[in-house]
Amino acid sequence: MNRSGISLARTVLVLAPFVLLCGCHGEHPQSALHPAGPGADKIANLWWFLFWTCTLVFLATMALLVTGLFQKPVGDRAVSPLGQRFILFCGIIIPTIVVVAMLIYGLRSTVNLKDARGGLTVEVTAHQWWWDVRYPREKIVTANEIYIPVGEPVRIELKSVDVIHSFWVPNLSGKMDMLPDLKRTFWLRADAPGKYRGQCAEFCGVQHAWMAFWVVALPREEYDQWVADMQQPPPEPRTPEQIRGKKVFFADREAACVNCHAVGGVGGKGAHMGPDLTHIGSRLTIGAGTLPNNHGNLAGWILDPQAIRPGNKMPRIFLKSRELPDLVEYLKILK
Ligand code: CUA
Repeated sequence: MNRSGISLARTVLVLAPFVLLCGCHGEHPQSALHPAGPGADKIANLWWFLFWTCTLVFLATMALLVTGLFQKPVGDRAVSPLGQRFILFCGIIIPTIVVVAMLIYGLRSTVNLKDARGGLTVEVTAHQWWWDVRYPREKIVTANEIYIPVGEPVRIELKSVDVIHSFWVPNLSGKMDMLPDLKRTFWLRADAPGKYRGQCAEFCGVQHAWMAFWVVALPREEYDQWVADMQQPPPEPRTPEQIRGKKVFFADREAACVNCHAVGGVGGKGAHMGPDLTHIGSRLTIGAGTLPNNHGNLAGWILDPQAIRPGNKMPRIFLKSRELPDLVEYLKILK
């Protein structure tokens, strides 16, 4: 290695611990190592168990290797009885015990995770590349956000309408694949209020990395208030801009929002193709976690969704100059 190579290696060695520690402060909205629910707790415990077991095995192996390097060569002398016992214990018996212990611990955690129960049921359907979210008993339809009460088990029913996706909220539980035409159930519980980021964990096309959602865990009273708010019919437009914006949304033409999105249960034939927009004004993000939901981002998204998320199913629609700000004014009141 030349001199610059050596100094690069030194720099990497010095900086590596700091890089590793970068993730060790602040909030952790998407981290399997900061569990906030029983499912994630079991997975984190398993992770640490495997990590420390493998670390010990690695260090022991390296210690033996270094010891071996400083032994005098034995030539073709036969292995001594002590050496044979060493091979039997360290090469067969101890590795078998370690591997079986890891297997039993892993299987026990998996069995505990499958223990599905829960009072509240939420149906989540994956689409390329967003999440349809329904509360059948409460008759709520939303998208890309799941509100749950803190401390209560929630039953999640998962399916997909196109390819295989995977539902994953690292802080709350493990992953579950979402298969076309096959409903699977899953459960999770949040033990602390907060916002937890979820992410599709199965490659499902070009926008897979931008297929995110948020789980918002609220204390029971706040959750009940959220349900009551969601059950209200969408507000009617009041200002001239909002009234014109509603007309743009429901326009009777090929390139109109209503053809792919519904508001308050009213939508065209393809209204299941895009997220329900009844509560778009109160969502945290747009484009399934791609951008914060604010005036500028919403206008930019409508103007050219393909520039923000190339390959997504929303085409660029051509609006007249006044139509875009009017439409945004209308969408903002849908809370
Ligand atoms: Cu959906 Cu990856």
